[in-house]
Amino acid sequence: MEIVVSGIRPTGNLHLGNYMGALKNFVKMQHEYNCYFFIADYHSLTTHPNPKDLHNNVKQVLAEYLACGLDPESCALYIQSDLPEIPELYMLLNMHAYKGELERVSSFKEKAQSHPDNINAGLLTYPVLMAADIIIHKATKVPVGKDQEQHLEMARTFGNRFNRIYNTEVFPEPYAFNYGSNLVKIPGLQGGGKMSKSDGDNNVINLIDSPELIRKKMSRAVTDTGPTEMNTAPTPSVQNLFDLMKIVSEENTSKHFTDAYANCSIRYGDMKKQLAEDMITFLTPIREKIEAISNDTSYLGKVAKLGAEKAHDSATKTLNEVRDVIGFRKFY
Ligand code: ADP
Ligand code: TRP
Repeated sequence: MEIVVSGIRPTGNLHLGNYMGALKNFVKMQHEYNCYFFIADYHSLTTHPNPKDLHNNVKQVLAEYLACGLDPESCALYIQSDLPEIPELYMLLNMHAYKGELERVSSFKEKAQSHPDNINAGLLTYPVLMAADIIIHKATKVPVGKDQEQHLEMARTFGNRFNRIYNTEVFPEPYAFNYGSNLVKIPGLQGGGKMSKSDGDNNVINLIDSPELIRKKMSRAVTDTGPTEMNTAPTPSVQNLFDLMKIVSEENTSKHFTDAYANCSIRYGDMKKQLAEDMITFLTPIREKIEAISNDTSYLGKVAKLGAEKAHDSATKTLNEVRDVIGFRKFY
């Protein structure tokens, strides 16, 4: 059976972009493939979180994974730092990862530009750690949003390079995956690009956001001065709202507002109110489950333990093969 791996960094609450780009696929895939889903807490260290925040964020994301429908019996659901095999493979892959290629990765260039005071080696080698996460289970499918495509290309590069250097076929090629083929990019509320935590809390709708907060964030969503000519294409900020509507609203609601835009009768205030109510309907069952699960520390502990055991079995197998082909053979 094909193997699937994916993870999300625990940097706060998960948002609708994470859900549509990644989690929704996880939930479906767990019944169709051999799945390994994890919380990428090592990756979150590039920004130096304090220990209490790190712990709370891991716990929160674990509860959010479960609330969205991940079943710890159907997949391996684990915390990355519970698997020492991952940093070991990362270190081995680093020996064949080159400074030049790592410096050309767009996520590195963006972060180096936005945080020039913290260009650490972990940030530079982020794609190597991500490759280790994926190929340690010999995955071929990786459910992620469009922003992660280049990292998948790097994972293929590192896996293929290892195979070639050691004349082996240990690692298959992993590809980004989304049901319906195209990778998705969910827009944010501030008129710019994708919904992302790094653009501030007002740009995202979190799965845990209360109805009041959703209404407040939606009322502040960026629009424009309104269409002045019939049948013109919406500006990017308004197109973002239409795109969000396609996800959470009924088809005829979307059509009502698209038609109103086309004939210039649209009132953005009404559209944003409707969108807020549809988001609330969409997210309420998830929010209620998160609230119920996140206080159940003993259940979360059992889930993490079971996941670590399953992931450990698969990771040690691959690592033993890797150590053997490299030439680490015991003589005692
Ligand atoms: P953020 O940009 O908020 O920090 P992450 O980078 O932690 O989010 O993303 C975790 C996962 O969610 C990745 O698989 C990513 O591709 C997906 N994802 C995040 N934001 C979006 C979005 N706006 N649209 C689609 N997928 C997204
Ligand atoms: N880089 C991913 C992100 O920012 C998170 C991640 C780490 C990941 N390791 C992974 C995703 C392995 C898929 C597979 O969202």
